[in-house]
Amino acid sequence: MSRGTESTRLRGDSTSQTAVTRRAALQAAASAMAFATAPSAQAQKAGASPTLADERSTIRLVVNGQPRTLSVDPRQSILDVLRESLDLTGTKKGCNAGACGACTVLLNGNRINSCLALAAMHDGAEITTIEGLAEGDSLHPLQQAFIEREGFQCGYCTPGQIMSGVACIAEGHAGSPEEIKAWMSGNICRCGAYAGIVEAITDAAKEA
Ligand code: FES
Ligand code: FES
Repeated sequence: MSRGTESTRLRGDSTSQTAVTRRAALQAAASAMAFATAPSAQAQKAGASPTLADERSTIRLVVNGQPRTLSVDPRQSILDVLRESLDLTGTKKGCNAGACGACTVLLNGNRINSCLALAAMHDGAEITTIEGLAEGDSLHPLQQAFIEREGFQCGYCTPGQIMSGVACIAEGHAGSPEEIKAWMSGNICRCGAYAGIVEAITDAAKEA
């Protein structure tokens, strides 16, 4: 047998083996998909269509001091529950991906990006939003300081900045402008009102 023929055979064997391996893999994948979809098809035949959208959870939250019982979709974020179920639209949706801080609220006293927190996982939690800071007609000291220091321009990031600032002060991270900048770095202001924001937090920290 010539080397060329042997080489061709080897290539042929190799190609054949690859084809078999690939076919086997495709068959295995098809079987797995059929297995995965079978219960759904059976359920549909039986008249039930168990989809994720149909599975709702009942949770209890305390939002700005008020007890709330809610039926939530397991995919709903706290941000969406606040805005769409409770009509608390002060908390803003910016990136919806944890990158801008516009959605910051306090969850059991800690600041979080509410766009990243699934409501169904926080049954029993206490949530404070921008609507819960003022006491009657009296603004929270940090809200007042934002006005006095002009810590905003368009105002879209402002609720998140203020909620984050409240936590920044409570955490003891407002000892200097540099420290405030570092601990507020998760809150983006596209208008660039950073100087006023830092001054406002500095003022409010002195009162705390
Ligand atoms: S909207 Fe949540 S971090 Fe941007
Ligand atoms: S005030 Fe406009 S984004 Fe901050």
